[in-house]
Order: sequence, then C-alpha cells, then structure tokens
Amino acid sequence: MKNPLIIANWKMKLSHQEALDLAKKISKSAYRYKDSEVVLCPSFIDIIDVSGMIKDTGISLGAQDCFWEERGAFTGEISPLFLQQIGVKYIIIGHSERRAISEESEEMVHKKVRLILTLDTTPVLCVGETFEERQEGLKDVVLRRQIYSALNGLWFNKSDRIVIAYEPVWMIGSGQDADPEEITHSHKVIRQLLYDLFPDQVVDNQIKIIYGGSVDPENVSRYLSQNSVNGVLVGASSLDAVQFSSIVAAAIKC
Ligand code: PGA
Repeated sequence: MKNPLIIANWKMKLSHQEALDLAKKISKSAYRYKDSEVVLCPSFIDIIDVSGMIKDTGISLGAQDCFWEERGAFTGEISPLFLQQIGVKYIIIGHSERRAISEESEEMVHKKVRLILTLDTTPVLCVGETFEERQEGLKDVVLRRQIYSALNGLWFNKSDRIVIAYEPVWMIGSGQDADPEEITHSHKVIRQLLYDLFPDQVVDNQIKIIYGGSVDPENVSRYLSQNSVNGVLVGASSLDAVQFSSIVAAAIKC
C-alpha cells in the first residue's frame, strides 16, 4: 500500500482550547508520521489556528463540511473556496451524521462534491448503510445508490482526487470491531461501480477508498492489511494524541 491516509474527524467534541492543545500535541509527533498522510479536521472555529500550528509539519488540514456554492447570500454557510484559500486540502462530505441529523440529501452531497472537484481540494465522500438496511440485505444497494448519486456525471481532470470513506453507520461510535472481510466486500462493490462510472486510470490513480467506524489502535492493522483499504477515518480515537499516534504508527507498519 502507498502511504496510508489517516483522517482525524474531531466533530463538535472539543472546545477551542482543547482543540489547540490536541493540535499542539499531535504536531509535536509529526516527525514520526512521514510515511503516512495525516489530516486533521477541526471544527470551523479552530481551523485557522490549527492551520498555523501544523504548518510545515507535513500534516494536512481538513474541514468537516462545506456549502455547495463558492460565494453569496448563504447565511451561516462555509464556502469551500474560502476553505481552500486558508489551506484546507480535504473536505468531508455526506458524513452519516449530516445525512441523518441535518437531513442532508443526496442532491446536496452531489453538488458539494461537484464544486470541490473544481477547486484544489479533495472531497472525502462518506457512504455507508444503516443497521436496518444491512439487516434487510440492502447494504450493496445503498452503497451503489449513494456513490452513483454523488458522482454520476462528474468529470475528473488529471489533478483531481477523491477519497471515498466507507463508514457503516452502525459501526460509528459503537466501539465494535468490523469484520475485515466484510469491509473488503463493500470496498469491492464501491470499486466496481467506480469502474462503471469512470475510466480505469481515474479509479486506479485518483480515487482512494478508506474505512471509518470505531477505528482504534488495536483494530487499525487488521483493516489496513486488507489490500483494498487505503486509509482510515477516525473519530473518537483521534481526540487523544497518544491513541491517535498509535493508530498512525500501526498504519505505517502495515
Ligand atoms: P468513530 O467516528 O471513529 O468515533 O466511530 C468515525 C466517524 O464518524 O467518522
């Protein structure tokens, strides 16, 4: 595997001061991360300060969401163009918490991904089935629908990149370990659809597929030892500098 991608999603879990303390601790360990690509996604109020703290460390800056227009009368929204201008390299889109709690539709997800691809920023498109969908045998159908609706009709230029994070909704925050073979199956379903939508070289060279859902220092190696898994999206375990560093160290060993 090329350098694993490890994205920390801090959600709305840290106060401003807590976020700065964590960024400081993580940036001190950054010299150990050089065989990986580490991305921190703080909340919007912390993003500029965290950007300054990780400057020149090799750690990248990410955001947890954005709006689907560059600029305009959209009170309370955040422009992906402005995020790019302050150094944001990755933007998480369609996280299951936004789809479920903020009722973000598949059309909104599509519009956000489409706009981000026109900028010098990489969308991290989250997809995944709920527990009920899985019980009903709909997992593959849901994954195909989410990927198709988000990406159909989009055009990739040579420099465009996209990350797809497969996150079974029922694994997020559960503290449970996933079955690596089940992850591989879902990644295959996703990859197959991508081959149907885009030229092979785009899928092979410009799209990474990662896994998220209760990733921790213990289970990360099992996931990353699957060939199809190019990295991880980490929530709770990214809130502690020691745990997060252990995840990065384990990922690099894979
Ligand atoms: P978790 O969150 O690691 O706490 O399960 C992952 C996510 O929501 O992206």
